[in-house]
Amino acid sequence: KEHIAEVEKFTSTSIEEIEAFRIKYLGKKGLLNSFFAEFKNVPNEQKKDFGKVVNQLKDAATDKVNALKETLESQTETVGKYGDLTRPGEPVEIGSRHPINIVKNQIIDIFSRIGFNVSEGPEIEDDWHNFTALNLPEYHPARDMQDTFFIQTDPDILLRTHTSSVQVRYMESNKPPIRTISPGRVYRNEAISARSHCFFHQVEGLYVDKNVSFADLKQTLQYFTSEMFGKSKIRLRPSYFPFTEPSAEVDVYWGLETETDYRMTKGTGWLEIMGCGMVDPNVLKNCGIDPDVYSGFAFGMGIDRIALLLHQISDIRLLSENDVRFLEQFKSAL
Ligand code: PHE
Repeated sequence: KEHIAEVEKFTSTSIEEIEAFRIKYLGKKGLLNSFFAEFKNVPNEQKKDFGKVVNQLKDAATDKVNALKETLESQTETVGKYGDLTRPGEPVEIGSRHPINIVKNQIIDIFSRIGFNVSEGPEIEDDWHNFTALNLPEYHPARDMQDTFFIQTDPDILLRTHTSSVQVRYMESNKPPIRTISPGRVYRNEAISARSHCFFHQVEGLYVDKNVSFADLKQTLQYFTSEMFGKSKIRLRPSYFPFTEPSAEVDVYWGLETETDYRMTKGTGWLEIMGCGMVDPNVLKNCGIDPDVYSGFAFGMGIDRIALLLHQISDIRLLSENDVRFLEQFKSAL
């Protein structure tokens, strides 16, 4: 009876162990045969009970061996079919974000903290959204400021030269107050060099509400540049854009005075990082917003240039060559 309990407890997934178990109980010189040999010495009145228990032990041992072998076989079959499912997985290589996306996400994050949402629009635009609505009617000389790629021969369909086109779309379908930034890829028919490409990326911003002033614009830019570049000085230089009046270029001081900030070593003095201005009343009118009630400011910056500065990348073309040796340098746990 003790042997029966032992047999029932036994388990194994090793073919050798199961075979050893079989030999121990069911082999030629196994326990069962020795019990059967013993049978003739058992007193007659106990023969019946003894025989019963020995037969139970034989059945238990046979069943056990069969059951364990069956499990083992079906496991071997699974491994053959699917491989060993209990093996630990192979580690997957972690990819990296593209530096353009890293910088774009930083910019989005900074503006979202002061209530700006994100808006997007098509890269293939019509003349109205890229030019005319922005106070750049046909034959306006300032259209040449941005050399344009047209789609085939239709002068009305083009690759957007800036994401100001998204701002037009946004104003057409939303009422003030408006606070939105528009990140995206833009195209200009320019010679490709270390400093400029025929496509690049922008984030443009738009704020429209009652009583928006130039002081609001300046304060917003100061907030942005210090979040983006660390403690930094900016300066606004008068400039011209057809869609803003007055207009300015924003320079950030990238120099020795701020060398304590790790993001701004390698001083190069004043660096132009964006254009901005108060939205021209004509633009508001074109987009269905009453300029007598509302005013606004807009700004636009190139993501690629900022990525080159922040990550000390020497050539803008590296950003679109997709060389893995370059891209994998931006791996981060975040
Ligand atoms: N759209 C301008 C450009 O692409 C940038 C800009 C945006 C300037 C908004 C002023 C206001 O160069």
